[in-house]
Amino acid sequence: MSKSLSILCIGAGYVGGPTMAMIARHCPEHRVTVVDIDAARIRAWQSDVLPIYEPGLKEVVQASLGRNLFFSTDIAGGIAQADIIFVSVSTPTKLFGEGAGRAADLQYWERTAREILTHATKDVVVVEKSTLPVRTAEAMERILRAGRPGIHFEVVSNPEFLAEGTAVHDLLSPDRVLIGGHDTAAGRQAVAAIADLYAHWVPRDRILTTSLWSSELSKLAANAFLAQRISSINSLSALCERTEADITEVARAIGMDRRIGPRFLNASVGFGGSCFRKDILNLVYLCEHYGLHEVAAYWEQVVRMNDYQEDRFVHRMITAMFNTIAGKRIAVFGFAFKADTGDTRESPAIRVCERLAQERAQLVVTDPQALDNARQELAARQVPAEFEADPCEAARGAHAIAVLTEWAEYEKLDYRRIFADMTKPAFLFDGRNRLNHPELHAIGFNVYPIGKPPLTHL
Ligand SMILES: NC(=O)c1ccc[n+]([C@@H]2O[C@H](COP(=O)([O-])OP(=O)(O)OC[C@H]3O[C@@H](n4cnc5c(N)ncnc54)[C@H](O)[C@@H]3O)[C@@H](O)[C@H]2O)c1
Repeated sequence: MSKSLSILCIGAGYVGGPTMAMIARHCPEHRVTVVDIDAARIRAWQSDVLPIYEPGLKEVVQASLGRNLFFSTDIAGGIAQADIIFVSVSTPTKLFGEGAGRAADLQYWERTAREILTHATKDVVVVEKSTLPVRTAEAMERILRAGRPGIHFEVVSNPEFLAEGTAVHDLLSPDRVLIGGHDTAAGRQAVAAIADLYAHWVPRDRILTTSLWSSELSKLAANAFLAQRISSINSLSALCERTEADITEVARAIGMDRRIGPRFLNASVGFGGSCFRKDILNLVYLCEHYGLHEVAAYWEQVVRMNDYQEDRFVHRMITAMFNTIAGKRIAVFGFAFKADTGDTRESPAIRVCERLAQERAQLVVTDPQALDNARQELAARQVPAEFEADPCEAARGAHAIAVLTEWAEYEKLDYRRIFADMTKPAFLFDGRNRLNHPELHAIGFNVYPIGKPPLTHL
């Protein structure tokens, strides 16, 4: 058994919590501590009700909690003990000053670097877990090497590729683990130490080691490519609606081409989540910083296409419902940015609800996991809405249902009963194309999928 290490993670969020729980589970000889400035979040990790919803996560956490996995608010104490420090704090889009709306806001990141500098007591490997602009490690090293000549800080990049909703599976069986470091003796040693952790459960051939800069850029590039596929298929969904082509048939036909492949080709109301938008805008900002304006414009269009898709969805609702939705009750089915998560950050539902409220529709929002977050998101934007846990109740008396999240339970509802309780003519706008449209049409709904001809009775 290898030497017991003290592993610290700063940031107990969607990435820090699950990642460290997985490391603790598979590396019982090491002590893993996750710290955060948010005391309520730390308490939740220690409790029966975790601060985030993720299928299978509770079991993984409980397997190690109190044994070799600890959650704490003692950041200074944690740093003092640590041999390895993962930094997984948020890196949101900057909302002020230079680069506002595009650049990554690195204030939490830099604060963490200074905390490490102040409290470290021995040589330590600092691991960038957060998604960062390429060459951030350089800035981190400058800060870390400025003040403590007796201590060696080696910075390594290990971006996280997990997707919310499938985090446990993705961590357990990742396509690859990426570790970037300096091509020096200390750099190679630090990369090997991180690789050894993952090798407890990830096959060595899936552990990829690169330069620091390739590793940092690969994470931004992977998200940009994934989002680009969604924007590409969504751009074609608009053309399908004009030409009576069917986006599902088109996606199937192109997805069977092995060079293209079937994944990330579901047309929808748009992508959301805390990462795609901010990471692409960050890439755009970086390209502009380096004077690569055409490259910046190319990637920026991926984000613009997503805004367009959200707006187009609302526009279609308004025109279908006789050009006015003022005073009409609309049941919003799903507020999370995707199924199997309670996360609503950058969810398409936010913009769609904002637009619907501007048209003075009466909104009733339902979601199996995200109602509290939905309440907060809409309150912050002063969007009036009711919140209802039961989708059948939400639809009672409604003129329309807008499906915005692909929760599997929405496919199994009793739509005959729902239809009976709705105002007629009843409309259903499927922003995820997951429901059985001919069946809904037969029940009596006027059905509007994405990228397909509507099925109406009008
Ligand atoms: N959410 C995802 O699916 C995902 C996937 C891959 C990568 N990432 C990246 O991982 C990073 C973290 O994302 P997340 O979704 O876990 O964010 P999050 O907001 O859920 O968690 C970040 C945590 O960091 C804490 N924090 C901030 N400043 C701190 C400080 N100075 N000291 C201690 N704690 C501090 C916050 O309180 C918060 O709990 C981001 O860079 C993100 O881009 C996210």
